[in-house]
Amino acid sequence: MEIRAPQPSDVDAVMQLASGLGPVAGPFVRSHLDRHHLLVADLDGEVIGVLAYRTDWFQCTFVTLVSVREDHRKRGVARALFRAVEGMSPSPRIFSSTEETNAVSIQMHTALGFQTSGHIDNLPQGYRELLFYKRLRP
Ligand SMILES: CC(C)(COP(=O)(O)OP(=O)(O)OC[C@H]1O[C@@H](n2cnc3c(N)ncnc32)[C@H](O)[C@@H]1OP(=O)(O)O)[C@@H](O)C(=O)NCCC(=O)NCCS
Repeated sequence: MEIRAPQPSDVDAVMQLASGLGPVAGPFVRSHLDRHHLLVADLDGEVIGVLAYRTDWFQCTFVTLVSVREDHRKRGVARALFRAVEGMSPSPRIFSSTEETNAVSIQMHTALGFQTSGHIDNLPQGYRELLFYKRLRP
């Protein structure tokens, strides 16, 4: 498996992986593509995972989406995507988030060494969004 920047031919697969975001998926993917803030996991030429991030969030890196194809989950794809973004983060502080109802994602963040760092209420999704934080280096 290779973690790399997306190519134009990957856009459909990335859109599919981001489809859980609903109607905002298209603009979300395009804006991250424009800023080169997307990573894909490639297995034998197929995109099986995506991670989107931004670097302008309170001068920290913020992971805005991680999604792995259902038939390739629990094999370390998300772990590899996080390792890659951690390696290129300009800030030593990396944040991420997930809905309070997403037990798998909460478990993943814990397993990857994140600690909880507050939450956001009053979002349109109707659930509390939990924030996670990891210090990458001193
Ligand atoms: C959450 C998600 C990205 C995890 O991707 P993944 O490639 O399966 O995760 P990994 O195999 O790298 O697992 C990393 C850790 O997460 C945890 N984990 C992953 N899947 C899990 C599951 N189904 N149940 C419990 N823990 C799980 C484990 O602790 C694992 O560490 P381990 O392998 O040392 O036990 C994937 O399930 C997914 O795409 N879900 C839908 C989208 C989503 O919820 N994204 C996160 C919020 S934006």
